[in-house]
Amino acid sequence: MRLEAIDASVRFGGIQALSDVSVSVGPGEITAVVGANGSGKSTLFNAITGFVTLEKGEIRLGGQSLNRLSAHRRVHRGLSRTFQTPRIDPEQSVLEAVMAGGAGTSRSRLWDACLATPRGLRDARDIEAHAWQVLHDLGLAELAHQQMGEMPMGTVRLIDVGRAIMGKPAFLLLDEPAAGLSHAEQEVLKAKIRHLAEQGVGVLLVEHNFRFVTDLADTMTVLQNGKVLDQGRPVEVAERPDFIRLYLGSTGTDRPAAAPKPTRAAGAPLMTCRGLTASHGRIKVCFDVDLEVPKHGVVALLGANGAGKSSLMGAIAGLVKSGGSILLDGQEVHGLPAHRRVEKGICFVPEIRGNIFPTLRVDENLEISQRRLSGDDLGTLKTELEELFPRLHERLDSEARMLSGGEQQMLALAMALAQKPRVLLLDEPTQGLAPAVYDTLEHVIARIAGQGIGVLLAEQNAAFAARLADHVVVLAEGHVSLRADPGLLADRERLMRAYTGADTEEAA
Ligand SMILES: Nc1ncnc2c1ncn2[C@@H]1O[C@H](COP(=O)(O)OP(=O)(O)OP(=O)(O)O)[C@@H](O)[C@H]1O
Ligand SMILES: [Mg+2]
Repeated sequence: MRLEAIDASVRFGGIQALSDVSVSVGPGEITAVVGANGSGKSTLFNAITGFVTLEKGEIRLGGQSLNRLSAHRRVHRGLSRTFQTPRIDPEQSVLEAVMAGGAGTSRSRLWDACLATPRGLRDARDIEAHAWQVLHDLGLAELAHQQMGEMPMGTVRLIDVGRAIMGKPAFLLLDEPAAGLSHAEQEVLKAKIRHLAEQGVGVLLVEHNFRFVTDLADTMTVLQNGKVLDQGRPVEVAERPDFIRLYLGSTGTDRPAAAPKPTRAAGAPLMTCRGLTASHGRIKVCFDVDLEVPKHGVVALLGANGAGKSSLMGAIAGLVKSGGSILLDGQEVHGLPAHRRVEKGICFVPEIRGNIFPTLRVDENLEISQRRLSGDDLGTLKTELEELFPRLHERLDSEARMLSGGEQQMLALAMALAQKPRVLLLDEPTQGLAPAVYDTLEHVIARIAGQGIGVLLAEQNAAFAARLADHVVVLAEGHVSLRADPGLLADRERLMRAYTGADTEEAA
């Protein structure tokens, strides 16, 4: 029994998001779908799972058309999916979030659950036991009783994979499951996906992390502007010049990074944090962090998911409760509310486009962040954005929520640039971007630093950080576990020790 999309086309008003796309996956197979940001990957998933209507074409399961079935009926036929940006109930526990995926597998009726009949109780116990098993398999068991609202986005996606598996699907569709995961977490996820495939589950995988794709997928379909550009075995397709040019960029060649690191004389510290702490409610997550961001400098903040990187950035931005001192140009800003820190030039781009107004158009979003610019500056910025993010420039009159995940990431960055910040706090900017865009992003960040702005860059992608950073700080469980030169990032073993907090030595 195969799951197939046959000549699938989807149109959103004037945008042809998908044209005549055919992909298929059989039991036990792993088929990847890759392509630039906005190329139609999530739309394809939405079409297969019944979240958008096809303009033309067919979705078939075992030769039978699913076109007329609603999304929830397709779930009953064995299709389960994860979302690029999962919606969560922040107060739900991790265990509850995963258990929610098991509701459809229950054999008992509503009254069994309501009246707590023996059958209802047995079923509830089975679902909970299964959820614990899934949490163990994904390395998440320790988090079971924590709240979803406290989880970093990478972990939320992993939990969403757990929820999707709970439904015991015949076919599993994963939309960028590895985005925001550390190397170790990616290995756990890979093993789980392999194991599912061995048990006969067919997997459709959308993922920008190309290593992850080549390690797992049997076949790969490449989308470009909603059309199939290429299909084949990942290692073969990866060698084709068109694919390298359009999708991989310099990550697919031996060329050095697009923007060789300029010799920026890292100047005097622009921002100095001393004894910085960060707390969520009564729980302290960062302890006594000392950090300096020099003018013209890029400081990479590394660490596992949950190490405290986002909380530390939130503390600097004034969005997370904190203690300690933050000097900007020698002036204490720690006591100031968030909006005053923005005025002082501290600009925070949260993980997953948190600074975007989803129901406003792209140009309106940009206008809001440009309000501090005038005349000439505005003109320069317009050309700069057009040059840096041509994709975004084509979508100026679309509502931000209609953009693809990666396009929204570009908008978030463009908005930050438009604010002319003094210190830029970037939380995992590569998350969700196609590899070729890394070159653009690297170029943008290097240019920002070249203009005298200090950049604090939290990243899971250590190779990307190494190309840009002048200095590296690793956090483990809220403490600085290592300070070093970016050259150290080649020493994977040492880095791993710092990630686990085993290595607290401070290097050069
Ligand atoms: N509901 C919608 N209304 C209007 N346009 C949409 C809608 N959903 C997607 N689009 C547009 O369709 C195109 C394809 O988007 P899609 O989300 O499928 O891209 P993607 O390949 O998943 O990209 P990414 O890698 O950035 O996640 C984009 O140009 C996007 O802006
Ligand atoms: Mg997408």
